[in-house]
Amino acid sequence: MTLPAKVKTQLGLHHGTNASRQWFARASAVLAGGVSSSARSSTTGDLPYPLYMTRGAGSHIWDADGNEFIDYLLSYGSVILGHQDPDLTEAASAQLNTGTMFGTCNTLEVELAEQISHMVPVAELVRFSNSGSEAICGAIRAARGYTGRTRILKFEGHYHGWVDVLAISNRPGEKDAGPLDHPLSQPHSRGIPQGIVDDVLIAPWNHRGHVRQILDENESELAAIIVEPIVANNACIMPEAGFLDFLREECTRRGILLIYDEIVTGFRLARGGAAEYFGVRPDLIVWSKAIGGGFPVSAFAGRRDVMTPIASNTVKHGGTYNGNPFCAAAALAVLRKINEPGVLESIHHHGDGIIDAIRQSARHCGVPCCIQGMGGMFQVVFTADGQPLRHYRDLLKADARRYGIFRQALLERGVHINSSGSACWFVSAAHGANDASTRDDLNYACTAIGEAMRLCASA
Ligand SMILES: Cc1ncc(COP(=O)(O)O)c(C=O)c1O
Repeated sequence: MTLPAKVKTQLGLHHGTNASRQWFARASAVLAGGVSSSARSSTTGDLPYPLYMTRGAGSHIWDADGNEFIDYLLSYGSVILGHQDPDLTEAASAQLNTGTMFGTCNTLEVELAEQISHMVPVAELVRFSNSGSEAICGAIRAARGYTGRTRILKFEGHYHGWVDVLAISNRPGEKDAGPLDHPLSQPHSRGIPQGIVDDVLIAPWNHRGHVRQILDENESELAAIIVEPIVANNACIMPEAGFLDFLREECTRRGILLIYDEIVTGFRLARGGAAEYFGVRPDLIVWSKAIGGGFPVSAFAGRRDVMTPIASNTVKHGGTYNGNPFCAAAALAVLRKINEPGVLESIHHHGDGIIDAIRQSARHCGVPCCIQGMGGMFQVVFTADGQPLRHYRDLLKADARRYGIFRQALLERGVHINSSGSACWFVSAAHGANDASTRDDLNYACTAIGEAMRLCASA
């Protein structure tokens, strides 16, 4: 297979990366580590510096050297409509000309909460904030305030933000992780107080017996179990059939709240997110990323009774920027569009095309791997036997070197995906638009995947 001549000259690292190298040197003098988020230090695979992106339009982005890529990172799924979506741009521009913030109640936050409640029925009462981590803090406080209990059960390898409250056992090394039936609570960073670490219990994903035992031992102290319903930060490990139902039943029986961290899955898996997709309702849900389409908006919401302590101010939650009209206008435009028939379906359809291409090229080249997730968000994992991962520790055994080769080959050909392999590919409505240019994107990406897989096979 050869690349179509037209795009071959356009996409990929054809202009070199000298400008990015220079920007990184400049950044390193004034930004700690040259970056604004620790995860970005290592986002470029083979290159010793990150690529500096300067422009995005539709499904494509451009870096400071003028290299063009099809963007399947999409700001970790945030840019669900694609870059510069006309409806979103129009809504945000109109609000820029109307006033971006008043620090008071405003009408758009009400309309946005109504839209969310309409799309996700469990969201009976909503509160807004600005980033995923912040909204997680709100949901955890709500859970603790409602139950009067302190401890939280989270799963090893699930990511719920950088803040102290849950930055525990995000990615522990095998040596530090402890026994599988009782994983240790390992702070993700220095600077997290031990008292906070002790309040977070860790369980292995998809292991009912171990989870039940940990619950038996700690039931009276547990406020909530929190999950990433599809583990976006662990190569899209899926919940095994019945696992979410099992958690639901255990929580209900023991008076523990079930929280879905839908910061990635929300408004992406389905209009009603993972709650709708898997048919299992949590008590609280947290959203960010897709809800803002690239604007900093997040929210937590849930059952009326669980959110009532917040409503009555017995449990406090605040924030100057919460529900500001600028971001609320943007989020409303995003959710209204996602709610239109066919939009999510087209996203999933494009993703299914990519998944098929990875699967077929892997089979053709004899490269064992599994693809996890679904059309809107997925990841390929190079496992020795091609079997899907069951929980975090399986990912430690996957062939990271092979993923690195695959990713670098795609980047060189102008297909931009996550560098580490622990996060996912994301698809936007701009990829799924089904016009000539997005069909070209799909054909182009599939061809590049075939070539990258061949390199994987021979490496
Ligand atoms: C599942 C999940 N939860 C929480 C967060 C934290 O969100 P933020 O980076 O906006 O604070 C992320 C971010 O990637 C995430 O993927």
